[in-house]
Amino acid sequence: MLSKKILENLSEQMNKEIYSGYFYLGMSDYAASTGLGGFANWFYAQWKEEIAHAKVILNYINKNGQRAMLKAIDEPPQDFTSGQDLFEKTLAHEKKVTGLIKALVELARTEKDTETENFLQWFVKEQREEESTPAGILEEIKKAGEKGIKEIDKKLSARK
Ligand code: FEO
Repeated sequence: MLSKKILENLSEQMNKEIYSGYFYLGMSDYAASTGLGGFANWFYAQWKEEIAHAKVILNYINKNGQRAMLKAIDEPPQDFTSGQDLFEKTLAHEKKVTGLIKALVELARTEKDTETENFLQWFVKEQREEESTPAGILEEIKKAGEKGIKEIDKKLSARK
């Protein structure tokens, strides 16, 4: 059984994962509206991945015989300016999420909840990828410049 504090914080993280999904759905929407179909595809896949992250947390809460505390999802920013801007904002966002996960690990340690601390290790590992993938794409975009954006778009269209 999870303590009230752990349950509240895991529920909050579940909410943040759904928020992340919503944030990326908005990016997909922006990209599609500007003819960057590959970018739109990449962010749509990212939206699905974030919802899957939320489900991993929900499953863990349920496995402990408890229910998540559902709260409203915040409105994400929608003021995007370019494909490069999307990946700059993605990287900044994922760095924040990594901080949230680290704080959760700290909390589990303080609460002496080893099971939750172990559970969170999957997210710690996942966040490395969540930061390194957009960082790599951002570098490619910068190198390619405006002229090479269609080539990057083609690459991003391959993500399933
Ligand atoms: Fe669920 Fe992008 O971290």
